Amino acid sequence: MMLARSTHLRRSGLLLRPLASSSSTTARPLTAAAGGGWEKSYEFILAERKDRVALLTLNRPKALNALCNGIIRDLIEATTHIARDDSVGAIVLTGSTKAFAAGADIKEMKDKTFVEAFSTNMFEEWGQIAKVAKPIVAAVNGYALGGGCELMMMADIVIAGENAKFGQPEITLGVIPGCGGTQRLVRAIGKSKAMELVLTGGMIDAKQAEKDGLVSKVVPTETTVEVALEMANKIASFSLPVAAAAKETVNAAFELNLAEGLRFERRIFHSLFALSDQKEGMGAFVEKRKPKFTNT
Ligand code: CAA
Repeated sequence: MMLARSTHLRRSGLLLRPLASSSSTTARPLTAAAGGGWEKSYEFILAERKDRVALLTLNRPKALNALCNGIIRDLIEATTHIARDDSVGAIVLTGSTKAFAAGADIKEMKDKTFVEAFSTNMFEEWGQIAKVAKPIVAAVNGYALGGGCELMMMADIVIAGENAKFGQPEITLGVIPGCGGTQRLVRAIGKSKAMELVLTGGMIDAKQAEKDGLVSKVVPTETTVEVALEMANKIASFSLPVAAAAKETVNAAFELNLAEGLRFERRIFHSLFALSDQKEGMGAFVEKRKPKFTNT
């Protein structure tokens, strides 16, 4: 396969469309016209720029950031706009010191009937967050329970504060996880540990989560957002299409067998030689200077 020019790549969407995301509103090319308008207070989240990073803060502190429909709607709206903004290279998603999010909103869903849950495909839209092409770093303090833990697992990297607590307590409410907890948790920490959390409804602390591979690192609670922003800004300093390709390719490991995954990786790797940023990155190394990526 010969792809001569990066414009061809962009038009084809080969690099930039997340796997199996044809219906996602966030799946448009990262290098589309510069976006904007996302830096504002939504009803349930705050959205601020921190250098080349969009900091999204769940902002329903009295309800411990329980994930009502409105929070998810705001998150999808913000990330859709951020996806179009070339000046943003990564996203940090955080909550409050007491709670990243204490789960889906129990009060909102407690009276739903089976027909309502089924016919509206309840929680299906949360999956849009997992389809965001730009890397997402979750900065987690306090409770990340139920849907909060599941939302966190839709991020690409998790930085945990020392006070963080993780769990899937749905069984205590007479249900099971409904936003990926039975699937992503197994892939993150293995069957026995995932089963323990899902079947007992218990919690693990930040140290245990790090040991289990659920989070990348544990930091003092008051520094969690700062550490996540630093990491996200580092990611954002690289080529946007390359970072998106890296994210898409790592995520493919969850969907494909090894032979298919290796082939997918190699083809994406080959395609990156159509980018100016590949010439710039390798050229800068040889010329012993810092690369200047242009996202082309
Ligand atoms: N939904 C709705 N409201 C919630 C909530 C949730 N998931 N979690 C907390 N709140 C509300 C509380 O009702 C309370 O509101 P009021 O002041 O109006 O009573 C407020 O947040 C503060 O909570 P607590 O008083 O309970 O705070 P606490 O410090 O005593 O306890 C906690 C903290 C252990 C996290 C406790 O709030 C708790 O157990 N929350 C529920 C956790 C849970 O079960 N999550 C799973 C939800 S189901 C789900 O997520 C399904 C899915 O797969 C998507």
